Amino acid sequence: MDQVSQIRDKVDIVSLISEFIPLKKAGRNFKANCPFHGEKTPSFVVSPERQIWHCFGCGLGGDCYTFLMEYEKMEFPEALRALAKQTGITLVSERATAGTTSKKELLYEINSFAKEYYHYVLTKLPVGKQALEYVLNRGITLQLIETFKIGFSPSTDQSLVNYLTKKKNYKKEDILDAGLAFVGRSGLVDFFRGRLMFPLIDHRDNVVGFSGRVLEADAPSKYINTRETLVYHKGEHVFGLNITKEAIRREKQAIVVEGEFDVLSCFGAGVGNVVAVKGTALTDSHVSLLHRYAQKITFCFDDDKAGQEAIKRSLVVVEKKGLTPTVIVLPNGKDPDEAIKTEPGLFKKAAKEDVGIYDYLLAKLIDTNDVDSAEGKRSLVDEFLSFVALIQNEIVKEHYLRKLSSEVGISYESIAKELQRFVQRQTAPVQSEPIKKKRVREEMLEEYVLALIVQSNDPKKTVQSVVKILSDSMSRERAYQKILLHLIEHIETSTHQEEPFDGKEFGDKLPSELVTHFNTSVLFPLPQFESQDDLLAEVNKKAGELRKLYLQKKIKELSEEIHKKEDSEDISDLRKKYTQLARQLEQ
Ligand code: UTP
Ligand code: MN
Repeated sequence: MDQVSQIRDKVDIVSLISEFIPLKKAGRNFKANCPFHGEKTPSFVVSPERQIWHCFGCGLGGDCYTFLMEYEKMEFPEALRALAKQTGITLVSERATAGTTSKKELLYEINSFAKEYYHYVLTKLPVGKQALEYVLNRGITLQLIETFKIGFSPSTDQSLVNYLTKKKNYKKEDILDAGLAFVGRSGLVDFFRGRLMFPLIDHRDNVVGFSGRVLEADAPSKYINTRETLVYHKGEHVFGLNITKEAIRREKQAIVVEGEFDVLSCFGAGVGNVVAVKGTALTDSHVSLLHRYAQKITFCFDDDKAGQEAIKRSLVVVEKKGLTPTVIVLPNGKDPDEAIKTEPGLFKKAAKEDVGIYDYLLAKLIDTNDVDSAEGKRSLVDEFLSFVALIQNEIVKEHYLRKLSSEVGISYESIAKELQRFVQRQTAPVQSEPIKKKRVREEMLEEYVLALIVQSNDPKKTVQSVVKILSDSMSRERAYQKILLHLIEHIETSTHQEEPFDGKEFGDKLPSELVTHFNTSVLFPLPQFESQDDLLAEVNKKAGELRKLYLQKKIKELSEEIHKKEDSEDISDLRKKYTQLARQLEQ
């Protein structure tokens, strides 16, 4: 057996996936809300028996390697190494060890050396002295500098490039691909020069990029960030998570701020469950990432128009993913960094007393509209309803409609009616669903019956009761019928009659074109049954329906044949068969 399979065999897919998302037992399988698309009823299923996962909502699925590749965005060699380490298997083949560092891993490595270099310049070298004074002056302690590995990029053209090419022997091309340099007239030029450097590190401790701030109070491009590279995607990265994820997990809450300095100041003030989105709104990917650790997203953006807008845009995503949005109202200052500098105690108190986002938005609207005029009321209600329409929970929704009603002095009924109108205006003309390949009812029933069998406590017993019902009617046209016949044969010829059914052994023996169908039935989401007797009753009922469908189809075919042959001889035989089938159907 090759090492890839050896490791796959040793990994327990249920405990692997459980590290990332909570799995709930459902019969022989485990279930969860799919981490790859937004949903509220779980269609993501894991089979311990087959050691596979599949989402019936979005169609993604695979084994332990593909899970890490999808979820952690790893490439195959990385996933292989991660699982080898976890299972304590030493990789021997060259393919998996030397020489195949993926391009991503190479960029992480280069970035990591750049991080060390910048940090060294800031903390140890005379060229970093002015920058060091600047950060210390802004109230950032040496300890914070150490924790977040803050650095400084010298203003000369090639300091980092020289370090990486001469001391560390990296190729120019790879330094360019990491976004750390660009091509100038006389060779490579450092991308970051004369800036305070914040390494951007992901939740797995990979250095994916940097942001650099000038030392002047304000400059045209105060901050510049690594361009989009193979490993840095602005819309997927939040600053600080590598350090703050444990606190976020503990508090089940992620405080989202705009800038790097906001994160440092919060962290320094003891509010550790914080990340920065770097002046943009939250994206789907940001929220999915934070959702791994937190159920509540608390905004603490700048107290200005841009901050307000960012909150509103982010809110849509947070609601869509089913997290709870709240806000920290700044007691003073334009951003958390300033508020903490002015009065850390007040900020910490405000952070503890985060308010529901809809209360916050309503208060803002009451502040900025003339609630006594009809026009003021109309514009306030219009805008607030656009937020209320996002709320997923009906009780929370009604709560805010009632609050709005009492704040503006308009009846609840009028407001509810207005919301309905708003929603109707919003709903775009319904797009016709893409026409799915039509599956016949028989096939869907077969899929369900097979799923009931293989997911029952005692598949051998279950299949026997089905055999009785189906044996006189079933053909072997479709995949599920073929699997059922294989299953019957497997059980009848099994040498160890008393041993329980082994799904893995059976699946491994199936012809390869049937394996996907078999996996589907192993993972197929079933309703909850009170007892095995209930499940058995359901199988019998559905097998009965199938039998009826099979027989009806045969009768139809036969009667067509009879019609065609009106005046020929052998019609009596067909008639006999017809009567027999009709009798079977009545039984
Ligand atoms: P701000 O302009 O509010 O900066 O941008 P700030 O956080 O108060 O910065 P300091 O305190 O003056 O140092 C908020 C965040 O937006 C990103 C940065 O991450 C910044 O922290 N930003 C800002 C950029 O990426 N590019 C810019 O040109 C400006
Ligand atoms: Mn600031």
